Amino acid sequence: MSCSGAIGVFDSGVGGLSVLRHIRQILPHERLIYVADSGHVPYGDKSAPYIEARSLEISKFLVSQGADAIVIACNTATAAAAHSLRVRFSQLPIIGMEPAVKPAVAATKSRVVGVLATVGTLESARFAALLDKYAGHVKILTQGCPGLVEVVERGELHSLEARRLIERYTAPLLKQGADTLILGCTHYPFLAPMIRDVVGSEIALVDTGEAVARHLQQRINAELPPRVMGEASTQFFTSGDADQASRIMSLLWGEVVTASLLPQAVTQTTEVS
Ligand code: DGL
Repeated sequence: MSCSGAIGVFDSGVGGLSVLRHIRQILPHERLIYVADSGHVPYGDKSAPYIEARSLEISKFLVSQGADAIVIACNTATAAAAHSLRVRFSQLPIIGMEPAVKPAVAATKSRVVGVLATVGTLESARFAALLDKYAGHVKILTQGCPGLVEVVERGELHSLEARRLIERYTAPLLKQGADTLILGCTHYPFLAPMIRDVVGSEIALVDTGEAVARHLQQRINAELPPRVMGEASTQFFTSGDADQASRIMSLLWGEVVTASLLPQAVTQTTEVS
């Protein structure tokens, strides 16, 4: 017996595993295929057309592997590519993600919220629209975090460098009264213990991994034919070094993972500025 289809999930690198773990928990019988675009990480400082081209290549690969739903487990790629993916794959549920402004605005008591995210996300039109819609009278402070994604990609979650970067990026937000911090990049939940250690127990940390997994479940139930459930499986692919990806993914996923190299056509550098 096999599954009707698979759920394809991708990110610029290993960050999307912070979403995949919620998907695995909520949908324990599904076949999951994860792509880390490690050969092109980070997305945060790339142009929107570049990220859009990468997202299209990866999504074509996921569909070729049997994916009948796609999760963009990346805030930066959602901002750059969700629209084109929905046009190109109009028959599939395409689930994107964006910084959790709405729940953070509901949670803050100081009426000051800080958003930690990539520069690409913070500069996107999609993020501006999100603030227009949900910020209301709450003051939203934004903080790009260059270097944090790379720390997670190297698996250095408890390093001195991680701590220094987190101190540097959170200090101005706390100083201005933020009592709620949005983890607006899927890599950052892996740094949550260190962030908690730096900012203390009074500050709320908000991320969207679980909400995205629940939304995926609803979309599958509403839009796809009933699933024929088989044995759950999770496959991992990378466009970078397979040994390195296997090592870091195993660390973050909590069990031994073997990442396969994507086909050359999917891996190669996309010629977009
Ligand atoms: N994990 C990604 C996000 O949620 C992107 C990180 C990057 O490659 O810059 O934004």
